[in-house]
Amino acid sequence: MDLEELKVKILELKEKRRAIIVAHNYQLPEIQDIADFIGDSLELSRQASRVEADVIVFCGVHFMAETAAILAPDKIVLLPDLNAGCPMAAMIRADELREWKKNYPGRPVVCYINTTAAVKAEADICCTSSNAIEVVNSLAAEEILFVPDKNLGSYIQRHVSKRIISWNGFCYVHHHFSLGDIRRSRAQYPTAQIWVHPESPPEVIDEADLVLSTGKMVKEARNTNHQEIIVGTEEGIIYRLKKENPEKNFYPLRPGSLCFNMKKITLDKVYRALESMEPQVKVPPEIREKALGAIEKMISL
Ligand code: 13P
Ligand code: SF4
Repeated sequence: MDLEELKVKILELKEKRRAIIVAHNYQLPEIQDIADFIGDSLELSRQASRVEADVIVFCGVHFMAETAAILAPDKIVLLPDLNAGCPMAAMIRADELREWKKNYPGRPVVCYINTTAAVKAEADICCTSSNAIEVVNSLAAEEILFVPDKNLGSYIQRHVSKRIISWNGFCYVHHHFSLGDIRRSRAQYPTAQIWVHPESPPEVIDEADLVLSTGKMVKEARNTNHQEIIVGTEEGIIYRLKKENPEKNFYPLRPGSLCFNMKKITLDKVYRALESMEPQVKVPPEIREKALGAIEKMISL
């Protein structure tokens, strides 16, 4: 089957299964093209909590599908490739967090959405890159434990008066951005603005013009008067930015910045998932209940 045939088959099966296809901004172009909804982690969680379909086909990584399963327990959540995990989410386990917390009694734990459900179950409140500062400011405590991204932790620290104590995790895609990438891009496109994701290292954030989640990049791309933008995040988002803003130019801060796990979701796997209704992502009820508390606190903000 060629790509076009596959797309038609997927759309037919989607109707039959009463399914909705949601995709993260980093997904492959052909996946974005068939998705009913594309977004960042916060937008995708909100979407999952209000869908009317029976089945959610989640085109993203495992923690995102788990979040959908937590928010929509009566739906079937399909992740077309169960090996599509987030290496940063794998940098902290629930037992490690339990041990770490013991060193800091009384400090609330804020967990980035890029964590497993079991880690969320150990946290007080969840956050995404879109709302991390608001979430931290919503807490009364003066010292906050933050897991797992040290770069997002240090970005939050710049904007709040509280003390952020971070776990030592990072996203390998964003952590690779360097001052060399900034200098090279500025030399190549002197009139361009540079946007970076808050998972980038502090020295890169210092030199960027704007620091934005992927969802905020999509919005800013529509509103900005700049015609040339250098994008410091996973390259998959550039497809969406160009498609929605054909009159503007978007360049990767570091060509080849790809999240290989995001790219594991292919049309073929989406088709097979809808056909077999596998693999499903499920969260055990005792973990779900606790993790839901942390996610709902975030959503209610
Ligand atoms: P957002 O899309 O929420 O900005 O997050 C980026 C990311 O790396 C998700 O894994
Ligand atoms: Fe995880 Fe980074 Fe990939 Fe996002 S881009 S899923 S944080 S490894």
